Amino acid sequence: PTDIVIDCDPGIDDAIAILLAAACPQQVRISALTATHGNVGLALTARNACRLRSLAGLPEVPVHAGCPRPLTAPVHDAAHIHGGNGLGGVELADGDDGHAEGRGGHAEGRGGLAEAHGVDALIAEAQRGRTLVAVGPLTNVAVTLIKRPETAARWRRLVIMGGGVEKGNVTPQAEFNVFTDPEAARTVLTTTEWPVAARPVLFPLDTTHQALLSPDWIADLAATGGKVCRIAAAMLGGYDTPSTAAQGGKAVHDAMAVAWTIRPELFETRAARIDVVTDSGAARGRTVADFVSIEPTADIVTGVDAPAFIQWLKERLASLDAALSG
Ligand code: BDR
Ligand code: CA
Repeated sequence: PTDIVIDCDPGIDDAIAILLAAACPQQVRISALTATHGNVGLALTARNACRLRSLAGLPEVPVHAGCPRPLTAPVHDAAHIHGGNGLGGVELADGDDGHAEGRGGHAEGRGGLAEAHGVDALIAEAQRGRTLVAVGPLTNVAVTLIKRPETAARWRRLVIMGGGVEKGNVTPQAEFNVFTDPEAARTVLTTTEWPVAARPVLFPLDTTHQALLSPDWIADLAATGGKVCRIAAAMLGGYDTPSTAAQGGKAVHDAMAVAWTIRPELFETRAARIDVVTDSGAARGRTVADFVSIEPTADIVTGVDAPAFIQWLKERLASLDAALSG
């Protein structure tokens, strides 16, 4: 399997992303979770990552807390979308958090968090040639690049959920992960350090909005009866997504970024040169994609086989329940 690190801010779609990765052990292995501020504050995103690790049956995966705020921007969250606890009001069990002994050899402090800071964990994981799936504001990844620019060339691949070519969800022009820390997003997406073959894969809103989970899909998921599926459905029930409400469904943005590492054939990409607007004003946090540049810097995911992705996601979550109860 491919070793992946998920830098995340759980977050309901982050939670589905982690569960999807756990559900595909033949293809991917989560080597670490790093938490960032984002949908809710760092204390909650780190705690949620620990609890999701337990729910997913992966007690050996270290969870590292990273940066508690953006590089320079004011703190901004999405608790109105993900609920005050970040998981749609669903309170997950503590699981095995707090038991520091014998967990795959990573030193742990209180609350089940590994001692190393998220940024240092990312540096170490880059050195090991992992694939990084970044599905929160890009603060941790940017600080990693500032602290150790040479690590950019060590990642096997970087897959990012963020930005929008023609739409935003915080402002008409800006998507949440980029809007929340535009300076970090600009640092990551305009770095010249990425090797050409490993340039970032970017999942913008335009594409994540193409595969929406309907109320029927969520009800079917709950009806499969397993614990993971029931909890996932409950979280999705508490996920308030006004930007896709008119289309009758909910986007699981971050799960699509994980899906790319497992089933890239479900997606279409186009090379583009990316910049990020960091000026104050109406365009702050906008990603600008130049599809005609002769010097592309990213592969933008522009299309998805939505029915195949949506059906497969449900099958995989059900298979995780089967594996955990078997
Ligand atoms: C992104 O913003 C967050 O609220 C979600 O978790 C996702 O990563 C979508 O814009
Ligand atoms: Ca997220």
